[in-house]
Amino acid sequence: MADAAALSRVGDGMAGESARDEHADSPVVVVANRLPVDAVTEPDGTVRWQRSPGGLVTALEPFVAGRGGAWVGWSGSAGEAPEPFESGGMSLIPVPLSEDEVDRYYEGMSNASLWPLYHDVVEKPEYHRTWWDTYVQVNKRFADKVVEVAAEGAIVWVHDYQLQLVPALLRQRRPDLTIGFFLHIPFPPYELFTQLPWRSAVVEGLLGADLVGFQRPSAAANFVQLARRLHDLPARGSTIEYDGRTVTARAFPISIDVAAFDQLAASREVVKRAEEIRAELGNPEKIILGVDRLDYTKGIAVRLSALQELLEDGVLSAPETVMVQVATPSRERVEHYVTMRETIEQQVGHINGVFGTLGGPAVHYINQSVPREELAALYRAADVMLVTPYRDGMNLVAKEYVAARGDLGGALVLSEFAGAAAELKQAFLVNPHDIAGVKNQLVRALRLDPAEGAKRMRAMRRHLVRNDLDHWASSFFEALKAQA
Ligand code: ADP
Ligand code: G6P
Repeated sequence: MADAAALSRVGDGMAGESARDEHADSPVVVVANRLPVDAVTEPDGTVRWQRSPGGLVTALEPFVAGRGGAWVGWSGSAGEAPEPFESGGMSLIPVPLSEDEVDRYYEGMSNASLWPLYHDVVEKPEYHRTWWDTYVQVNKRFADKVVEVAAEGAIVWVHDYQLQLVPALLRQRRPDLTIGFFLHIPFPPYELFTQLPWRSAVVEGLLGADLVGFQRPSAAANFVQLARRLHDLPARGSTIEYDGRTVTARAFPISIDVAAFDQLAASREVVKRAEEIRAELGNPEKIILGVDRLDYTKGIAVRLSALQELLEDGVLSAPETVMVQVATPSRERVEHYVTMRETIEQQVGHINGVFGTLGGPAVHYINQSVPREELAALYRAADVMLVTPYRDGMNLVAKEYVAARGDLGGALVLSEFAGAAAELKQAFLVNPHDIAGVKNQLVRALRLDPAEGAKRMRAMRRHLVRNDLDHWASSFFEALKAQA
């Protein structure tokens, strides 16, 4: 995290009160926990803002930038927030969070209660009243900022599980707004969701929106069912009657900028780097790749276990076959993340201890974030991409791999519990709870006939080209405008 005082100095330098006035009439407002920029601290201690590499910014920028639009979010640092400033044609409106709020709203309620609950209780969620109280307080602060900047009749698009109360808070104060909400993560069935002590407040929070978007139709159906069973609301198909309004709940599966990724991965530099990577790994016959945030939902341990057993069984051998696991550090102060990191590092150490050679590990583990170009080169170099989450809203990594394989090489092993599995049907689908099944599919993918592989890859790429990020954002905006 960058130092908060330094951030606020940057803010002062970039914009002052006059900027805030300019932002007071934004016709489109995006609200997300994070701003679409990261603070980068230079060696001399100054801080500058750099556009976040994530897809969401790319998707939304065309709809926000150039229209006097605004993005309300947290800078990622505790303490004072910088003043609003302009970036990429958007007004960025930072929301401050104190240390305590980061602790209770972000790490606590968002990432130790809601995140595991919404991901099938893969880890046990903790529920604390103090976390909830802070979640309410912070959601109110985000809503306050929107009320300040949104023009009369503006379109407001709220994102993700951290901000589920914002739609209703906005509706109470600004009935003139058209409000959309999109949940990037799964939405659990009635039987799990009703664990949440504040379940009614969350459902009511979401019902403040005109349009509630989900990754999958089953998630939208879960929400409609909750409204019906928990709140006794009249609901039919994808619509719910609430408070004299019609709320629509539908699936809008998110995607990536397919053309941009395809182009990047086909560039001379990236293709050359992919060859270098293979050489740096000792020119193995097969490279298996995993790329994830280091999160317990991603099933990283499952794939390491599958590899370990295949090495033990003598079906695979190292260093002829190597695995690269790139795992970005994430939510490092949340307990489940600390323990899972230890587990993974032990597994990697064990596999390398038993099956590695001097200078030739079986698993290359990189606990770092890597630049986009390097990521594209890794995708291009990988014979098999292993994506094995226990539950995932979508999983963009799977889509990025397919987009990167314009050469029609490689094979994708994909968990059937990732949203992407509903679309990438030609992948080698696996149940990550079934280790024997994962092993079988991994071996099939490693031994795939190139012509058969190319056929599968071509079909998946055809799907992605038609269903890219722009398609996602435009469909949501169109559906939202239709509700106005
Ligand atoms: P989640 O949103 O749960 O993190 P996704 O797979 O949907 O999972 O999106 C992850 C995004 O983060 C992808 O765009 C991916 O390229 C990027 N990413 C994941 N791991 C790394 C890494 N080690 N270095 C750089 N980018 C990464
Ligand atoms: C998932 C969530 C996002 C979140 C991202 C990174 O994609 O859906 O809302 O921003 O993970 O997690 P972080 O906690 O670092 O923001």
